[in-house]
Amino acid sequence: MKSSSSILPLLALATSLASAFPRYLSQAFLHPRSASEGRTISNGLPGCPFVKRQAAGVTPPFDAKQQYVSNAGKHAFVPPSGSDRRGPCPGLNAMANHGYLPHNGVGTIEDLISGTAEAFGMGIDIATILAIYGAIFDGDLKSFSIGGPAPSLLGLGGLLGEPRGLSGSHNKYEGDGSPIYGDLYQYGNNLPQVSQFTALYKLGQDNEDSVDLDVLTKFRLQRFEQSIAENPYFFLAPFSGVIVTSAAYTFIYRFMANKSAENPEGRLNGETLKSFYAVTGDYPNFTITPGHERFPGNWYKRNPVDYYTIPYFIEDALAMDIQHLQFLSVGGNTGTTNSFVGVEPADLTNGVFNVANLLEGNNAFCFGTELILQMAPDILSGLFHDITKALGTLTSAVGNATLGLSCPQLTSIDKDLFRQFPGYTKLNSNGMYYN
Ligand SMILES: *[C@@H]1O[C@H](CO)[C@@H](O)[C@H](O)[C@H]1NC(C)=O
Ligand SMILES: *[C@@H]1O[C@H](CO)[C@@H](O)[C@H](O)[C@H]1NC(C)=O
Ligand SMILES: *[C@@H]1O[C@H](CO)[C@@H](O)[C@H](O)[C@H]1NC(C)=O
Repeated sequence: MKSSSSILPLLALATSLASAFPRYLSQAFLHPRSASEGRTISNGLPGCPFVKRQAAGVTPPFDAKQQYVSNAGKHAFVPPSGSDRRGPCPGLNAMANHGYLPHNGVGTIEDLISGTAEAFGMGIDIATILAIYGAIFDGDLKSFSIGGPAPSLLGLGGLLGEPRGLSGSHNKYEGDGSPIYGDLYQYGNNLPQVSQFTALYKLGQDNEDSVDLDVLTKFRLQRFEQSIAENPYFFLAPFSGVIVTSAAYTFIYRFMANKSAENPEGRLNGETLKSFYAVTGDYPNFTITPGHERFPGNWYKRNPVDYYTIPYFIEDALAMDIQHLQFLSVGGNTGTTNSFVGVEPADLTNGVFNVANLLEGNNAFCFGTELILQMAPDILSGLFHDITKALGTLTSAVGNATLGLSCPQLTSIDKDLFRQFPGYTKLNSNGMYYN
C-alpha cells in the first residue's frame, strides 16, 4: 500500500535523527521552548501562552510543494466498506480513506509511523510510542486495527483472544472526555456526537472562524465538566487520560489546521474541521457519517522541519494544564454523576510526583507515560498468554519516549486507589466498539 516515495523521506529523517536521539527536529528548529522563555509568571504560577512562534518572531517555514497533501489520484477518497475498520481517531480514519494507511484500517507500526508523517507531519517520536502502544494493547504487537476487532490478527503474538482494536480500547487508549467522540458508558458507544461537534464548531465561529488552542482549551474544560455531570463512570487513567486526552485536543489544531504562507502555524476553519470529522450540513443542522473522514482539497500539512514532536506536545499540553489544573487529574466519578474524586499524585506514586512538581519540566508527560508500565501487567495479562514480550517492548518504548526528559524514577504505584472508580474496574471487561 505504501509507495517507496513515502518511505524515503522518512528514512532520511530517521537517519538524521539517529545521531541526535532524542533531540528531535522541532528542537533543531529554533523556537522558544524552555519554560522561562515561553511563559510569563504571575501569582506564582506560570501564565498561559501557547508557543506562538510568529509572535516570538520565529516563523515556521512554508513550502507548498513539500506540505501539500494530495486527496486525488491514488489518494482519492474511498469510504470504508465490508470489513474495513474505522474508529475513534478522525485523523487515522481520514488516512485510511485516502490511502495513507491500508484501506482495511489495520496497519503495522511502520505503516502508522510513515503514514502519520506523510499525511500530517507527526514527529517520529510521538508516532512511535503511539503506534507501539496501539500494537501492544489493541493488536498483536506488530499491527492493530484503527477501529473494531481484527480477526485477521488472531493467532499471532500469543493472544488470548481477538485483538479488539482502537475502538475496543476504552480507558486503555481511547478514553473519556474526548472532543467529539462520546464517553462510552454515557452513550453505550464511543461514536462521534453531533452535539459535541456543534459545540466546538460554534466556539470556532465565535473566534473568527478559527479553532485554535485557546478555543480547544475552552472546549476541553466544557467537555471535562460535562463528563463529570453526565457520565457516572467517567474515568481518567494516567495514560489515556493525562496523555491521550491532551493529545486529542492539541492534535486537532496542530494537525488539522491548514498551513500556508500567510499562516505557517496553521489556521483551522469550520469547513476543514467538518471535513476531518465527516460532518455535512450547515450549522446548526449537522450530520456525522462516522468513517467518512476526509482530507480537504488544497490542504497543507506541517513543514518537515517543524514536525510535531514529544517536546513540542509537552509544551502545548502544559500550557493547557496550567490554565486548568484539573486536566492533570487522574481519577473519576465513583458510580454516580458529579461524584468526581481525584487521586492525589503523591499518594499514587509514593511521593515521586505531586501536584506541584507535575507542572515542572516534563513531569506531567513522565507521570502519564511511566504509569503505563506500572499498570500494564494487569491489563496485559488479560490479553496475552505470556506478557513477557509485550512488557519488554513497552518498557523499551516508554524508555525511548522519555529518554532525555529527566523523568523522576517511578518504581511502584498504589493501584488500590483506583478501585473506587467503576471506570477502572471495568477496564478488563469488554468495551463496546463499532467497525
Ligand atoms: C435547521 O433545521 C431546522 C429544522 O429542519 C430548520 O427549521 C432550520 O431552518 C435549519 N437551519 C439552518 C441554518 O439550515
Ligand atoms: C489552505 O490555505 C491556502 C492558502 O491560504 C488556501 O489557498 C487553501 O484553500 C486552504 N485550504 C483549505 C482546505 O482551507
Ligand atoms: C528504543 O531505541 C533503541 C535504540 O534506538 C532501539 O534499538 C529499540 O528498538 C527502541 N525500542 C522500541 C520499542 O522501539
